[in-house]
Amino acid sequence: MSKESLVTLQQAFDERRSIYALGNELPVAPQAIVNIAERVLLHTPSSFNSQSSRLVVLFGAEHQKLWDIAEEKLRQAVGDGDFSGSKQKLDGFRAAAGTVLFYEDKNVTKSLQQQFALYADKFPVWAQQTSAMHQYAMWTELRTLNVGANLQHYNPLVDEDVAKAFSIPDSWELVAQMPFGNIVEPAGKKTYQPVNERMKVLGL
Ligand SMILES: Cc1cc2nc3c(=O)[nH]c(=O)nc-3n(C[C@H](O)[C@H](O)[C@H](O)COP(=O)(O)O)c2cc1C
Repeated sequence: MSKESLVTLQQAFDERRSIYALGNELPVAPQAIVNIAERVLLHTPSSFNSQSSRLVVLFGAEHQKLWDIAEEKLRQAVGDGDFSGSKQKLDGFRAAAGTVLFYEDKNVTKSLQQQFALYADKFPVWAQQTSAMHQYAMWTELRTLNVGANLQHYNPLVDEDVAKAFSIPDSWELVAQMPFGNIVEPAGKKTYQPVNERMKVLGL
């Protein structure tokens, strides 16, 4: 990839979108995605610096396996119902280059609940928020490499089979799935609610 095609983090912030038309011809070496995932784990904040987030980065056949599991589980759930819409969506994810799985380690949350009983009910909420920060950091960082992504939630339907397929520890809870790949088609137009209705600035 030429240097010119790299975008700054600030541009990526503005240009990140949900990209559903993804391909498996990454504009960067797969290792660049792994490097990003490592940086996301290192530098994304977490409540009480718990570092409770866990990432699994799937490429190629392992990525295909994930979407095969999702299809199988979803077909079972739908039964005799129309599966064509779901099939089209799942084939779209399968066509991507890989998927990042976002987990939270429940053991970390449990340990914090025991240590800080006053906040016991808050830690599961903060774990979800911590995961969301990792998801957003990953999504935006991918955009700096011109790699498109979207965010999916086939959990808890797929949890058990995915854990078996990828040897996921029992204490890891699946929160989200992020298929990524080259951008085959850009995202459609997005509508924006006026910012001044969603923000107050005081004391300027
Ligand atoms: C917390 C959260 C959950 C989401 N869950 C899904 C999902 O399950 N499936 C999906 O296709 N998109 C999902 N999205 C994507 C949103 O629909 C999308 O971000 C939103 O419509 C704005 O579009 P943009 O991402 O192109 O800016 C989710 C986004 C967020 C922030």
